[in-house]
Amino acid sequence: MIIQEGLVRVEVPDEHRVRGPGKRGPGFYNADQKINRDLTVAYVSTVRPSFFLDAFGGSGIRGIRVERETGTRTVISEINPVSAATIEENISRNGSRCTLIGDNCETVMSEFKFDFIDIDPYGSALPYIDSALRNVKNGGHIGVTATDLSALTGSAGKVTRRRYSANLTVDSLKHEKGIRLLIRAVIERGAQYEMAAEPMMSFWHSHFYRVIFRVTRGAGRCDRLLEEISPILLNGREEGPLWLGKLETRLLDRTLRAPEHVASDIRAGRFLRNLPDEDLMPLFIDLGDREIFNGGDIPSVSRTVARLAENGFAASRTHFSPTGIKIGGEWDISEIRKIAYAK
Ligand SMILES: C[S@@+](CC[C@H](N)C(=O)[O-])C[C@H]1O[C@@H](n2cnc3c(N)ncnc32)[C@H](O)[C@@H]1O
Repeated sequence: MIIQEGLVRVEVPDEHRVRGPGKRGPGFYNADQKINRDLTVAYVSTVRPSFFLDAFGGSGIRGIRVERETGTRTVISEINPVSAATIEENISRNGSRCTLIGDNCETVMSEFKFDFIDIDPYGSALPYIDSALRNVKNGGHIGVTATDLSALTGSAGKVTRRRYSANLTVDSLKHEKGIRLLIRAVIERGAQYEMAAEPMMSFWHSHFYRVIFRVTRGAGRCDRLLEEISPILLNGREEGPLWLGKLETRLLDRTLRAPEHVASDIRAGRFLRNLPDEDLMPLFIDLGDREIFNGGDIPSVSRTVARLAENGFAASRTHFSPTGIKIGGEWDISEIRKIAYAK
């Protein structure tokens, strides 16, 4: 069937998934990843890379959207010949100037110098991170999509230890901890090559994490990033180590130059407006956390945020949890509790 997403129309399998990870197969298309592609288009429109690689083509929608919606010179690589044929058709259907290479993306990465490499495999992104870090241009970008959330959240604890050398407790903070674990893994791998990978845009949605990194050469830069990785103590238990630095960047600070059709999309617009607030503090306070809130009723989240603002705090909701809040600056939990429960 033909679907429309952004400014393009592509052929995708009839049985593609609208929610959740979807079934692997030729011409793979996942509608739940539209927000991922929308925000990639917004990011690319802002940083203007000159040569973009959509390393894992599927239906080709990501690369075709980037090329058509931002005018960026784009290559799509795809290892499966049946998917490659679908991509070729989708390229011509849209009058796109994307180049398709029916090959392993690791070969393609090593043969051309891209300044944006988009990694979107099935499952863990880790096996491809080294190739991307070694081959991206100095000052370029790597977009990483990870769907191995059971490993990243700690719910498959043995895999978390084997793959990410970390210990995590699964609780309501799990998605923010998970994305911070992914960031740590990429930074540490980059540091081996003296390539500093700084997260510029990070978010969770549904079954995946998405982080876009800016990668610059320099041992000192790597050391400064590594200083912001450490274990954390939560409810008396040591977890991590995790990246505790910023998730977003001031570059994105509500100034991302998203094309109108992306900025006006309700979900994408909300992410673009709210993501900068994720950096008010690392991790968040969960108003549903009985240990913090003494087992009382969960206070209203929007009223608590509004009251905190009235009391002079920078406060916001977080996209990591419907009952989570972030508060900037110095504060004391007893003061927050008092404000949350004030009549
Ligand atoms: C999750 S899908 C990509 C989805 C696509 N990026 C999107 O936004 O809709 C992964 C695709 O990568 C392809 N693939 C897997 N390993 C690859 C490799 N080493 N090089 C190139 N393509 C690969 C698979 O055949 C599949 O079509």
